[in-house]
Amino acid sequence: MSILSICGVRGGCGATAIAAAMAWYREEQGRPVLAIDLCPQNLLRLHFGVPWSEQGGWHASLRHGTDWAESAWQIGRGHLSLVPHGAWAAGEDGPAAGWLRAELGRLARPVGDMVLLDTPLWAQSCRDQAFSVARHVLAVLPADPISCVLSDNLETELVARGVPREGILFVINQFDPARRLDRDVENLLRNMLGSRLAPLPVTRDEAMREALAAGVPVSVFAPESQVADDLRQLAVWLAVKLRRDVESQAA
Ligand SMILES: Nc1ncnc2c1ncn2[C@@H]1O[C@H](COP(=O)(O)OP(=O)(O)O)[C@@H](O)[C@H]1O
Ligand SMILES: [Mg+2]
Repeated sequence: MSILSICGVRGGCGATAIAAAMAWYREEQGRPVLAIDLCPQNLLRLHFGVPWSEQGGWHASLRHGTDWAESAWQIGRGHLSLVPHGAWAAGEDGPAAGWLRAELGRLARPVGDMVLLDTPLWAQSCRDQAFSVARHVLAVLPADPISCVLSDNLETELVARGVPREGILFVINQFDPARRLDRDVENLLRNMLGSRLAPLPVTRDEAMREALAAGVPVSVFAPESQVADDLRQLAVWLAVKLRRDVESQAA
């Protein structure tokens, strides 16, 4: 089982949108994936048309003392299991330390499984859950000069929490190739991060917002769009990176 946390370096980077796209790519490929929304905002489900009124999810199940795994939605042909965060009220406690590690250990999941964690910026206990189990983290960066500082801050946080440096991967999202500063920032980040930065940035594309508004994955909503193609390339790159790491552990 490979466990990948996806997080932004500030709000609105597109971490949830990219988590949804990576989960959907696995579904399209017929490969098992368990996507868990650890963000109290509970937005990941909206990318798959789960109605806003549906308030179930792992957090709600814990509160009601029911089995959280039963709050999963089977998406598409069922290779994608989606576990929403569920309703949350300000001030409510997060799960106890080590909860996610113990729960993932007891799940009977298929061989070759992937767990994708949509990881929040500010809900510290959920962030702790994600970073204590993830061997890989995909950090989503805006094409903005602040990414140089924010990527460094995140890397320091992750290394201090025990995530191996080679497992910390990066992607630039909402990239506009017509803007000179976007291109300069990409070059700067490429020099800083080398092969840990995805070879292609993900383009800013209105199709992404429209797909969310329609509640369907962007590769279904606009299969011919530039952003759908960028996301496919990102998914392929990630699969190679994660597989290489699993092989080098086994060697
Ligand atoms: N490549 C993109 N092009 C255009 N809009 C995007 C792109 N990526 C994300 N968005 C939009 O940006 C907004 C914030 O994305 P979201 O995934 O919720 O960010 P985060 O989880 O990092 O806070 C959403 O409306 C989403 O549809
Ligand atoms: Mg988010």
